[in-house]
Amino acid sequence: MPFDHNDHYHRLLLRHAPRGGGAALDVGCGTGRFARRLAGLGLDVDAVDPSARVIAEARARSAAAGGPRFVQGDITGMELPRGHYAFISCLASLHHMPFATVAALRDALAPGGTLVVLGCYAERTAADRAWSLAAVPVNAVARLAVGTADRCRAGNGGRMTRPPVRQPDMALADIRREAAVLLPGAGVRRLLFWRYLLVFRNSGCGRSIMH
Ligand SMILES: C[S@@+](CC[C@H](N)C(=O)[O-])C[C@H]1O[C@@H](n2cnc3c(N)ncnc32)[C@H](O)[C@@H]1O
Repeated sequence: MPFDHNDHYHRLLLRHAPRGGGAALDVGCGTGRFARRLAGLGLDVDAVDPSARVIAEARARSAAAGGPRFVQGDITGMELPRGHYAFISCLASLHHMPFATVAALRDALAPGGTLVVLGCYAERTAADRAWSLAAVPVNAVARLAVGTADRCRAGNGGRMTRPPVRQPDMALADIRREAAVLLPGAGVRRLLFWRYLLVFRNSGCGRSIMH
């Protein structure tokens, strides 16, 4: 696989996942790499994506018992069980839907549950452009390193279907402002590769316990 900005942050996101079981939901799961990692932690994983193409590939790659349940669907039109999930993740998918979708995800969290968003934002400010410029050489080196490692490795499981992509149209400042309203106490921090990390932990009274 070529260097992938979303996959690069899997380990960071997994630090927020519960150990010892529980229900998890991965929103906009694509071909299911992150959902499979969650299942590997012993979580009982639902994974949702509207693209028939990526869901077919996700299912084909996850035949093992105990793997995620892949559901083809639009999360914005689904009725999610309230207070159910110990962990909900959205990797590079929230900008495909209205930001307010996080309110439904918040309500689906069990008390003590965690919502993590690896998000994309629109570049608007000088700071955005400076971060972007800083990321370019690091990205080039990472691509080279991952490409070389891939060529040396025998059989990497074949090329994956590329999930649908979309340009983000919300600036980081707007994301912070809306998150403060819908996910009070959530932490939002900028990451190097054109991404941000949002972490909200459900205290049971609508506020984040910590991030
Ligand atoms: C850039 S891809 C990211 C895929 C995957 N999370 C990853 O990290 O590789 C965004 C995904 O969000 C999915 N998506 C778009 N709108 C959605 C919606 N309303 N509900 C659920 N998923 C959605 C797309 O089909 C696509 O697979």
